[in-house]
Amino acid sequence: MRRAEDRSSGGRQGIDLLGSHLRRAATESSVAGEMVGRKANRSGVGWGHCVSMAFMASSSQRNRTSARLAAIAESATLAVDAKAKALKAAGENVIGFGAGEPDFPTPEHIVEAAVRACRDPKMHRYTPAAGLPELREAIVAKTRRDSGFATTASQVLVTNGGKHAVFTAFAALCDPGDEVIVPAPYWTTYPEAIVLAGGVPVIIDTDEETGFRVTIDQLEAACTPRTKVLLFVSPDNPSGAVYPPEEVKAIGEWAVKKGIWVITDEIYEHLTYGPHRFASMPTLVPDLADQCLIVNGVAKTYAMTGWRVGWMIGPSDVMKASINFQSHATSNVSNVAQAAALAAVAGDLSAVATMREAFERRGRTMHRLLSAIPGVTCIEPQGAFYCYPNVSGLLGKSLAGKTANTAMELADLVLSESKVAFVPGEAFGSPGYARFSFALGDADLEEGIRRIADLVARS
Ligand SMILES: Cc1ncc(COP(=O)(O)O)c(C=O)c1O
Repeated sequence: MRRAEDRSSGGRQGIDLLGSHLRRAATESSVAGEMVGRKANRSGVGWGHCVSMAFMASSSQRNRTSARLAAIAESATLAVDAKAKALKAAGENVIGFGAGEPDFPTPEHIVEAAVRACRDPKMHRYTPAAGLPELREAIVAKTRRDSGFATTASQVLVTNGGKHAVFTAFAALCDPGDEVIVPAPYWTTYPEAIVLAGGVPVIIDTDEETGFRVTIDQLEAACTPRTKVLLFVSPDNPSGAVYPPEEVKAIGEWAVKKGIWVITDEIYEHLTYGPHRFASMPTLVPDLADQCLIVNGVAKTYAMTGWRVGWMIGPSDVMKASINFQSHATSNVSNVAQAAALAAVAGDLSAVATMREAFERRGRTMHRLLSAIPGVTCIEPQGAFYCYPNVSGLLGKSLAGKTANTAMELADLVLSESKVAFVPGEAFGSPGYARFSFALGDADLEEGIRRIADLVARS
């Protein structure tokens, strides 16, 4: 178990091609945590004091960017993707395993709904901050259909993507110093969102031995009187793990017993493979509903990453505060995107089934190809669209005459030598691993892994 201060161990090694964002990932977030704490202490001082202090400080003495924002690392996954795209644009034949987005176009009926919305003058105006009433109703019906959880439209907040729902959830729950238990490997955005909200991420390490799933014993050991929230994600990004229902239930019951909130990120609910199935924690543990926020969105299920529609569901008091917050921060989500999301969630799941089948096939192929590389071990993905191999067997070895000592250095080496981009485990709080997205075409997928296999075989 680790606290925020040391969550980037391994993240300080040099890396050139991928840039400084990864090196910075999380190292300075504890600074942000302190800043948030200091800001809270200052709040009793009063405006007069603040204003006179502001006059006393010359502009050269003051940071141009607030320490809180300066401490945020660029999203490592987006950065790797951007780097791969930039190399491609420069004429390099790069294969990118970085992006966490389906390669399929958004289904036609969804696009058509957006086109109709564009032509409807009603949609050219502000609409309620919490979301279009018909979309909130449809999310209620969809949630009951897909996860069995009963809620009401007033408990739904439509957000600018799932990412925005994640930020809102932590902002809604965290006071300065509140601890949030985060199992690692974790999606790279969570610690940043927690620290910005004033919280302290408390990291629990998991590995392939336990299928990248936390145990109650680990949770118990991480829990302190300051623990406010447990972050729970299944299917998981980046590990591809899916918790079986009995474990979801046990963790939910543990949270109820401890009086801890759970933020459950259900964005990959429809992307599960083989015998693995998504199970929603507040459905299995109804007593949890009063201390649980559900995060979800259309991005992954309907190939709608660019449309930016997500949502948060939770108890009325927290939702009311969150809606007030959104009314000042963003007002309503784009009406056109909401109309598209309405067509998505109100429609059937046939397009999703086709995409899920393709992902399952690609995941199996990628797992087989990665596992055949000496020095790489990989568990078969159970959900989402990522393989998360342990690449520590490649570290310290000579590859094309160079040696990588960390997954980050390996990512750099592979990008420069083989023109293949993946996201090193440091970005997810677990050095020694690497995330490969299989949301890309079969031919590219096979070619990309073959290039890495060739690099290793040549060395
Ligand atoms: C686990 C998880 N939650 C939430 C999101 C947010 O998705 P979006 O903001 O595109 O809806 C992502 C995106 O990668 C994710 O992997």
